[in-house]
Formats: sequence, structure tokens, C-alpha cells
Amino acid sequence: MTSRVALVTGGTGGIGTAICRRLASAGYKVATNYRSEDRARAWQAQMRSGGHDIALAKGDVSTYAEAEAMVRDVEQQLGPIDVLINNAGITRDGTFHKMTPDQWQEVINTNLNSVFNVTRPVIEGMRTRKWGRIVQISSINGQKGQYGQANYAAAKAGMHGFTISLAQENARFGITVNTVSPGYIGTDMVMAVPEDVRNKIIAQIPTGRLGDPDEIAYAVSFFLPDEAGWITGANLSANGGQYMGW
Ligand code: CAA
Repeated sequence: MTSRVALVTGGTGGIGTAICRRLASAGYKVATNYRSEDRARAWQAQMRSGGHDIALAKGDVSTYAEAEAMVRDVEQQLGPIDVLINNAGITRDGTFHKMTPDQWQEVINTNLNSVFNVTRPVIEGMRTRKWGRIVQISSINGQKGQYGQANYAAAKAGMHGFTISLAQENARFGITVNTVSPGYIGTDMVMAVPEDVRNKIIAQIPTGRLGDPDEIAYAVSFFLPDEAGWITGANLSANGGQYMGW
């Protein structure tokens, strides 16, 4: 069992919830951020009833000031952050020739600028303590592109560019930085894709099904223990075989 502190952004969402649960079960002291207090408290109570105690800190990760305040709040509640999972993300799908500036900016701010906003206040402490684990939750669509997702694919590809630069800068400090790229997982985000489109996508997945959030939480956990210290700058695909680029 570990007693390290982990911050999972977007922890109340589909994949985030599975990551929070898995880390809490492994002994991590886990926190996540929230924007809507009522929804987050209800989620926290549900997690507690399942035996998982997750701390909450208010903050929209798409703005630097809120993200920094959220990080400091987590440090106050649980102590220095050892593990950061940059998981928060949204979609605003649409073909590019119809995409509005808002659709572009909301996705870039929440999915990519958030990675700067949250990691920047966390990294100095990790460097001082000479240990850290940072994992970006990217996407298969950052690797292969997706019709209707120029904004999302740009942000998700950018997350891995961030990973491989940060990995180089921080390897000497005992900090590993890696990416997990999920395929289509059975979350609200994927269920919001129109059914006919979704069925066509599922038909392209060799496993013949959507992934389970726990299968992504498992992939994330692979990067966290001490014995994973040699693995940095990696991009781990967890997509049911839908994309096998290397
Ligand atoms: N390849 C080629 N053509 C495609 C296509 C594809 N993959 N997808 C749609 N089209 C075609 C349609 O057949 C249609 O053609 P016709 O007009 O000839 O009938 C045309 O594109 C529709 O284009 P529009 O500009 O009118 O598109 P729209 O405004 O109706 O929006 C869309 C379509 C939003 C892109 C919709 O197809 C969609 O939701 N696609 C799924 C996008 C997707 O995969 N999102 C993932 C969300 S989950 C997630 O992101 C998690 C993760 O990390 C995996």
C-alpha cells in the first residue's frame, strides 16, 4: 500500500471516477477539482458509500488563477502532491468549416491549457522532493485524428507534445511524465455521439466493444509505482486495437 497524494483533474467524470477509485483503493490520498459544488458533493457522497474517500477542491482548470488556487487547496487538505493525472476534458464536436471560435477555444482551454495551468504549480514541489508522477489522459483521436474533432484532436496531440518535453526536463528529478491514450470508452462523453455514428465507430474496434473506464484506470496505474521509474515520455494506447500506430 502507498500513502502518496494524488490529484486527478476532472475526477467526477467517467474515466476520472474510475481513476479516483482505483488510486484510493491502492491507498493513495486522492483529490479532484470541481466546478459545480452540488454535483461534486453528491458524487463525493456516492464515492464514500463505496468506501472511497476523495477530497474535493473548487477550481476550473481552464483558468490559471483557479487552477493554482485549487492546487494549493489540495496541498492544504492532503499534503504535497506526488501524483498528478491531467484527465479533465470536454468535447465540442463539429466539422471544422462550421466550427465557431467558442468551440475551438473551450476545448483548447479545458483540454490543453489546463495541463499548463495545473502542472505548473505542482512541478516545483515535485522537483524539490525529487519524486513525481505525471500522466496526461490524451485520446486515440490525438493520435489518428477524427472527422468532426479538429479542436479535440489538436488539444489531445498537444498533450503528448507536452509529455515528451516535460519528461526530458524532469527525468533527473525522479519525475516521470507519460501519456495514456484511451480509445472509445463507455462514458457519457462517448454516449453523446449520435447512435448511428457511434455504432459505425464500434464496428471499427477489433475487440468489438467500447472500453470500460476501469481499463483506463489500470493503464494509468501502470506508470505510478517506484518500479516504473525508467518509463518516461511514453504514450500508452488503450483502445481495443482500434489504432495501432507506434
Ligand atoms: N468520414 C467521412 N465522412 C464522414 C465521417 C467520417 N468519419 N463522419 C461523418 N461523415 C460525413 C457524413 O456521412 C455526412 O455526409 P453527407 O452530408 O454526405 O451525408 C457529413 O459528413 C456530415 O457532415 P456535417 O458537416 O454535416 O457534420 P455534422 O454537423 O452533422 O456533424 C459530426 C457531424 C459532429 C462530426 C458527427 O459525425 C459526429 O459526432 N461524429 C463523431 C465524432 C467523434 O468521434 N467524437 C468523439 C467523441 S468521444 C471522445 O472524443 C472521446 C475520445 O477521446 C475517443
